[in-house]
Amino acid sequence: MKKIIIKGGAKLHGSINISGSKNACLPILAATLLIEEKVTLHNVPLVRDILTMVSLLESLGKSIKIKKNILEIKSQKKKNFFAKYDLVKTMRAGILVIGPLLAKLNKAKVSLPGGCAIGARPVDIHLDFLSKKGYQNKIINGYVVSKKKKLRKQLSYLFKKISVGATETAILNSCLSNSEVRLKNIAIEPEVFDLINFLISAGANIKSTSKRTLLIKGVNNLQGTEYNIMPDRIEAGTYMIASIITKSKIILNNIFPDHIKNIIKVLKNGGIKFKFISDSSLKIFPNKPKPLKIKTVPYPGFPTDMQAQLMSLLTLTKGSSEITEDIFENRFLHVLELQRMGATIEIQNNKAKITGVESLSGAEVMATDLRASVCLVLAGLVAKGETVINRIYHLERGYENLVGKLKKCGAKIKIIDA
Ligand code: EPZ
Repeated sequence: MKKIIIKGGAKLHGSINISGSKNACLPILAATLLIEEKVTLHNVPLVRDILTMVSLLESLGKSIKIKKNILEIKSQKKKNFFAKYDLVKTMRAGILVIGPLLAKLNKAKVSLPGGCAIGARPVDIHLDFLSKKGYQNKIINGYVVSKKKKLRKQLSYLFKKISVGATETAILNSCLSNSEVRLKNIAIEPEVFDLINFLISAGANIKSTSKRTLLIKGVNNLQGTEYNIMPDRIEAGTYMIASIITKSKIILNNIFPDHIKNIIKVLKNGGIKFKFISDSSLKIFPNKPKPLKIKTVPYPGFPTDMQAQLMSLLTLTKGSSEITEDIFENRFLHVLELQRMGATIEIQNNKAKITGVESLSGAEVMATDLRASVCLVLAGLVAKGETVINRIYHLERGYENLVGKLKKCGAKIKIIDA
């Protein structure tokens, strides 16, 4: 069983190269099901979720070559519309293949992704869109079994709540069809627009008509394309916290300033200084952090995927802070582990009240989901003594070479196979 061992207290120095975004790459990979010709993707993060999606696409009729961070995706003759449970169960984004499978093959059988540590993760909004579009969807033995009934040529669809995945399903299903679809109240996370830009590069007709509205005019086919995945804004935010919590000045390279302004804004309110040293590099100046009161909200607000990482910093920030988790119903699993390291945190429903302590102490802890895992790494970087993190496969799902990147900056961190 692999574990991460961290000796707390080391200062960090130098720079970290930010990888491509997992959450942009996953829907873009699903989109290749719409394209017969060759697609080449650059700046792909080689993390477990991406490799799982590659296996899923290969089971659906794609052949994929991986050359370092470049993927070459071609089509096999044989197509398949059945996305199996064992390929979807560990990666929720598996549901994203249903939209393109229906657009291309008029039928799909996709395993329900199942819940995960942070919540039930329903897909009702994905299915509501597909039924309004004219597909029949049934849930049979843990699978969504869908097929074309009478497809709407014109559809105006209002999302009842902002959902990144459901927005992506609707886009993926609408751009290859002889229909005109207006989507209202869409998620506007940068990852959604990376998917849109990818599809437009392949010939899709997608226009933003207002802040949260898209107009998609289906086309007969999409062409092969070459595309650069956007940098991972959450990875960048994670290493910002690593820099601040260890009171170190590090530089982040390959960042996209626009995507991280919301994170920088909150950290600036917490007393931190930043300097863009180029249009893709950022230097962090970790002054003494001030307590914060924040709520996680859809983009362009403070992202839920940064909630656990910020909490690790606030456990050591003098004064009282408060985090309200407004996106997922159970995204405080890291709290118990932080408390075992000496943090003072009180949970009231979806609010966490954090009182800063002098120091944390190293402990043996357990990762529960991707972001909770990395929050424990951040806490371990400054805790007194040694921290041992179990179940690190969660980390490997979404952070490319995390241990290597931190070690290169001077962290006393290693992976052991005990
Ligand atoms: C995406 O998940 C991300 N995953 C998540 O990142 C991220 O936390 C989330 O968006 C919010 O930004 C990927 O992009 C692969 P949602 P998604 O649909 O699409 C509810 C990470 O750590 N909902 O925006 O699943 C849902 O339960 C992961 O990288 C429904 O009720 O999130 C949640 O409460 C974690 N019905 C809220 O909406 C639905 O049909 C927002 O979920 C769909 C969602």
